[in-house]
Amino acid sequence: LVLCVQRTSAFYYGQFPDNFAWGVSTSAYQTEGSWNEGGRGPSIWDTFSKSPGKIVDGSNGDQASDSYKKYREDVQLLKQLGVKYYRFSISWSRVLSNGTLASRNEEGIQFYKSLVQELKNNNIEPVVTLYHWDLPQKLQDMGGWESDSIVNFFVEYSNLMFKELGPQVKMWITINEPYDVAWYGYGTGSQAPGIKEPGTKPYAVGRNLILAHVRVYKLYKESYAPSQGGKIGIALNSDWKLPKTNSQEDRQAADRAKQFMLGWFASPIFGNGDYPEVMKTRAGSRLPSFSLQEIIDNRGSSDFFGINHYTTKLVENSPSMDAGESYSKDLGVKESFDPTWDGPSEKKIYPEGMRELLKYIKSTYGNPVVYVTENGVGDCGTIVDETRVNYLKNYIDQVLQALKLDHVDVRGYFVWSLIDNFEWSAGYTKKYGIYKVDFERGGRDRTPKASANFYRDVITHNGFPT
Ligand code: BG6
Repeated sequence: LVLCVQRTSAFYYGQFPDNFAWGVSTSAYQTEGSWNEGGRGPSIWDTFSKSPGKIVDGSNGDQASDSYKKYREDVQLLKQLGVKYYRFSISWSRVLSNGTLASRNEEGIQFYKSLVQELKNNNIEPVVTLYHWDLPQKLQDMGGWESDSIVNFFVEYSNLMFKELGPQVKMWITINEPYDVAWYGYGTGSQAPGIKEPGTKPYAVGRNLILAHVRVYKLYKESYAPSQGGKIGIALNSDWKLPKTNSQEDRQAADRAKQFMLGWFASPIFGNGDYPEVMKTRAGSRLPSFSLQEIIDNRGSSDFFGINHYTTKLVENSPSMDAGESYSKDLGVKESFDPTWDGPSEKKIYPEGMRELLKYIKSTYGNPVVYVTENGVGDCGTIVDETRVNYLKNYIDQVLQALKLDHVDVRGYFVWSLIDNFEWSAGYTKKYGIYKVDFERGGRDRTPKASANFYRDVITHNGFPT
């Protein structure tokens, strides 16, 4: 007998400000498909997903949700929902097939121009992520994010996108979740490029991700923002971290966990320009330092704080017994979920964590403009997705509470995700869409789930009116 206890947090009735930015998010590799069409070159996710044993169901993004072909239909779904914003990412190897300017692919550039135009025609603002994990394979062969040369390649590619799409795009995100790129790509190896060198590489890669972000931010602010008038930021991800017990060790461990996940990138970009002290102390020289000039340039290098948030973890102090040096050993915690929380195994539902995290961002990083750039929950794909409806309702309400009661400057909220898609190493076993995609058939038909109807109502009422 399994007893399901649905926790409900104290609900607050009220509305969001009039211009609140309601949106949904997707990414290129997870949705586009057409991996070898229209001149697209291979990315590290093509390589990784086709390496045996990397994806639980042995699948890949070759066709994915077919959005390269069905983008007009996707825009109609956005219209049905009533969202004013659509966050998608550009596949770097679709616009530059081997990542460099010499491999410019007109057909790929045209695809994104058409998508942006279609959005505009339907009164939907594009929010464009430049890097959502699908590095051109050719650049990986040249060292990828480990090599300092990546910074210039990223600047050249971004410059091209600002030039081509900038007249229409007013909101840019440089990099999605640098934490995941550095840690899962180079620490655990569970994501592309699948490297497992947890003591040094995540730190080296993290540094290049920050430098690349800062250079592209400066480029946009100096050369494009004055004439194009848009904003540019980054999307960081963080769980909320609760101490498992009230002991001083566990409270310090929870704080350390925030610093090692969010602070690693937020402190350079939104804080004092440098890594959190606790990371510098614990990782020592394996955390490559910033020069004074870099610290100055890092500081304040974002117009807004994009935050992707999904779940909360209980954290206890736990010196790692791992042999050898590693980021996890530097961090020294054990994380778990409270067994009373509802929800799927790795994304437990604890809505209060959303408000706590937003408050923490406000108090730690000087009250920045915040957008929740991703929030959602995975399940097995049912149309009557009560868990997701319950999740979204309570998480959105916590955003409202942060805004109304704690005066966090939240300007927008984006559900992950518009449609079911290729869920990285989980393949198609886990679904996040508020629209179902029929992966059994080539046509990849879309059907609204209960959560799509629910979200449309929230947008229509601009929250939860009394
Ligand atoms: C984020 C990513 O980590 O969360 C998305 O930006 C991803 O691309 C989503 O699909 C769901 O994550 P997870 O960890 O459940 O696979």
